[in-house]
Amino acid sequence: MPILKGKDILHGNQFTKKDVETILKVASEFERELKKKDTLPLLKGKILATLFYEPSTRTRLSFEAAIQRLGGGAIGMGAVESSSVAKGETLVDTIRTVSQYADVIVLRHPRTGSAKEAAEATSIPVINAGDGAGQHPTQALLDVYTIRQELGTLKNLTISLVGDLKNGRTVHALVEVLSLFQSKLYFVSPDLLRMPEEITSNLRGKGVKIVETEDMMEAARASHLIYMTRIQKERFADLSEYEKVKGSFIIDQTFLEKLNKKVTILHPLPRVDEIHPDVDAYPGAAYFRQMRNGIFIRMALLAMIFGKR
Ligand code: ASP
Ligand code: CP
Repeated sequence: MPILKGKDILHGNQFTKKDVETILKVASEFERELKKKDTLPLLKGKILATLFYEPSTRTRLSFEAAIQRLGGGAIGMGAVESSSVAKGETLVDTIRTVSQYADVIVLRHPRTGSAKEAAEATSIPVINAGDGAGQHPTQALLDVYTIRQELGTLKNLTISLVGDLKNGRTVHALVEVLSLFQSKLYFVSPDLLRMPEEITSNLRGKGVKIVETEDMMEAARASHLIYMTRIQKERFADLSEYEKVKGSFIIDQTFLEKLNKKVTILHPLPRVDEIHPDVDAYPGAAYFRQMRNGIFIRMALLAMIFGKR
């Protein structure tokens, strides 16, 4: 039985190491194929629906591009204000409706747990493209794809995750996937934005070595890779709290000169001020390659969900 056929993609902890290796293998096949041709029509006639209740550039457009590169089509609800959500329709009713028109749903929603709720309301696969401060599992897969591409391996790496570890759904999903590969993790954040205790203790229980610190330089010196994140302003109920922590960690030329060793830098993007544009030309700055990899991973996931790989 193909591993993802007919399945939802909801959480970074749903994959085994073997699943991750298979997904990465299929994604790299697609990356190679797309160098030779524009489309691989494995999903002719399939329709993907994008339901984004929060802003997105990369995730929505790369899913739409992925289904089209596979020969299928995409429909989108557009902005929440222009759909019947504005009239008060519930998520469950919206999901039931869209299930009549599409074969797979990609959902981004501000409520943690919303993707699971949506998956329970329909028999078609639901892909979680970000549920509040919860999870962003397809991002985690493109992140590990990029890490392996940049560093040649996923095993025994030391990785610093920096920024808003409390609200960052990308890091919540990524640490689950990294926990399969014997990583050592530095969690670098202001005290206010520490990784939730539940996640940290669960990872420690699985044998992951974790160091929590506010010292980005110390962590970077010990690491092969730095994963920067944006402080998630939209999750702050009190904006004066945001003001206290904004700009806490910034990578710029001065930081890299002081660091004085090559390091790989990822960021799920969008960035605000965490990485100065001067850093973009640094050979280890891999965030634009990372965003490109979203297309290969999302093609792999869609092909596998429909049993075509
Ligand atoms: N784009 C990512 C997300 O939606 C990261 C971010 O917005 O900071 O979770
Ligand atoms: N990385 C990411 O999820 O980007 P978008 O918010 O632009 O989709």
